Amino acid sequence: MLSSMRVIVFASQKGGSGKTTLSGHIAVEAERQGAGPVALIDTDPQGSLAKWWNARKDPAPAFIQSVFSNLFYDLDSARNEGFRLVVIDTPPAVTRAISEVVSFADIVVAPTRPSPHDLRAVGPTVDIAEARGKPLTFVVNGATPRARITSEAAVALSQHGTVAPVTMHHRVDFAASMIDGRTVMEIDPFCPSALEVSALWKYLYERLQRADGSYSGQEDPMSGMTTAHSRVFGRRAV
Ligand SMILES: Nc1ncnc2c1ncn2[C@@H]1O[C@H](COP(=O)(O)OP(=O)(O)O)[C@@H](O)[C@H]1O
Ligand SMILES: [Mg+2]
Repeated sequence: MLSSMRVIVFASQKGGSGKTTLSGHIAVEAERQGAGPVALIDTDPQGSLAKWWNARKDPAPAFIQSVFSNLFYDLDSARNEGFRLVVIDTPPAVTRAISEVVSFADIVVAPTRPSPHDLRAVGPTVDIAEARGKPLTFVVNGATPRARITSEAAVALSQHGTVAPVTMHHRVDFAASMIDGRTVMEIDPFCPSALEVSALWKYLYERLQRADGSYSGQEDPMSGMTTAHSRVFGRRAV
C-alpha cells in the first residue's frame, strides 16, 4: 500500500512508441490489482487516451480532464478526492510543458520500440527526467519474439537508465482491445499480453513502493483482484 497519491508519467518524444496504450493498460491494471482509485490524465492535444476512455463502459479508472497549466491544481484535487494513483499520458514531443508534467512524476516511464530510430531518439526524454531529478524507466514495447534487436535494444537503453525487466511484445490484441475502450486484461485476463501488463504493473508498483520506503519485498496484500471503483469526474473527456 502506498502512503500517498503517486503519479506515473508516460513520456517519450517518439510518436507510436506505446505511451497511450501503456497508460491505459497500466491504469486499468493498477485498479484491478487494488492500487486504486486510479485516475488518468491525457495531456496530448490529440486526445487518444481521452477518446479511448470515452468508449469505455467501466467508469474505473476515472478520467480527469486537465490541461498543462492546471495540472498542479488538478493533481491537488485528485489527492483530496482520495485518488491513490494518477497516470498521465503526454504528447510525442520535447517541450517545456512536458518537462513540467515530468516535474509532478514519481516515476517516468518511456516506452521504446526496439528500432534504431526509437533508440536514437531517447536522449531528450532522458535529459528531461534528469533535469527534473526523476527516476526514469524504459519499457521495450512492440518487440518481436526471439528477435535479436530486442535484447540489443535493452542493452542500448541500459546505457541511459533503468530498463523494465518486462518486454511488451507486438500483439494485435493491444490495439484491438482498445477499439471499444477496453484493455487486453478485460478481453482475457490470462492471455500473454495481459500477463505482460500484470508483470509491468508489478514492477512499477515495486518501484513506487521503494521510493516510498514501504517496500517489504513481499507480495502486497492489496495486490489481490478487487474492483475499487473510483469517483468519476464526469463521463465525457473530450
Ligand atoms: N505492444 C503492442 N502491440 C501491438 N500494437 C501496439 C503495441 N503498443 C502499441 N501498439 C499500437 O501502436 C500504435 C501506437 O501506440 P500508441 O500507444 O498510440 O503510441 P504513442 O502514444 O506513444 O504515440 C497504436 O496503434 C497502438 O495500438
Ligand atoms: Mg499517444
